[in-house]
Amino acid sequence: MADNNVTVVDHPLVQHKLALMRNKNTPTAKFRLLLREISLLLAYEVARDLDIGLAEIETPLEKMKAPKLEGKKLCFVSILRAGNGLLDGMLDLVPSARVGHVGLYRDPKTLQPVEYYLKLPDKMGERLCVVVDPMLATGNSAVAAVQRIMESGAARIKFVCLLAAPEGIEIFSKAHPQVPIFTAAIDRELNDHGYILPGLGDAGDRMYGTK
Ligand code: URA
Repeated sequence: MADNNVTVVDHPLVQHKLALMRNKNTPTAKFRLLLREISLLLAYEVARDLDIGLAEIETPLEKMKAPKLEGKKLCFVSILRAGNGLLDGMLDLVPSARVGHVGLYRDPKTLQPVEYYLKLPDKMGERLCVVVDPMLATGNSAVAAVQRIMESGAARIKFVCLLAAPEGIEIFSKAHPQVPIFTAAIDRELNDHGYILPGLGDAGDRMYGTK
């Protein structure tokens, strides 16, 4: 389902795995595995319009020009730390992609993002840049991360999350109308602490078993 700038990847496999992840009784190791599996399925959708070239190969019968991904032109950028959970499955699918990291934490009082780390590949202007963070909640971190990535020269950017709150979609789309959002679901609302309802809790804590 695609609505304006948002694509909800409503494939039954994604929805089934997402329901398992939402369940508070799903243990950490299983949660991480499910996130990796879903990210692979999300990447499949995001990668629909990847640049593809032709390379000459030889089948057992003859030579041909076969489609070949321009893998080096793709860049995944993980918003630390929960973004790393989405990154792994995407790298399973496109191992030659370059990887960047943006470190942001949410100030618990203001809910505003504070940057503590930034490392991006070179030639960002030539790459399709896929920014990943499981939870698009207030949208503040995603807006700030994409802003920094744009400052590095990136022009083609997509944002991928697992769950999005309507509030986050609105903030993000206003700040970056040219950046399409891919998500497995749009949930109901944010609570007073900026958590998504019904959501799945704190994605980082559930991935790593922290509290
Ligand atoms: N970050 C999370 O990990 N979970 C939420 O619900 C919101 C932000």
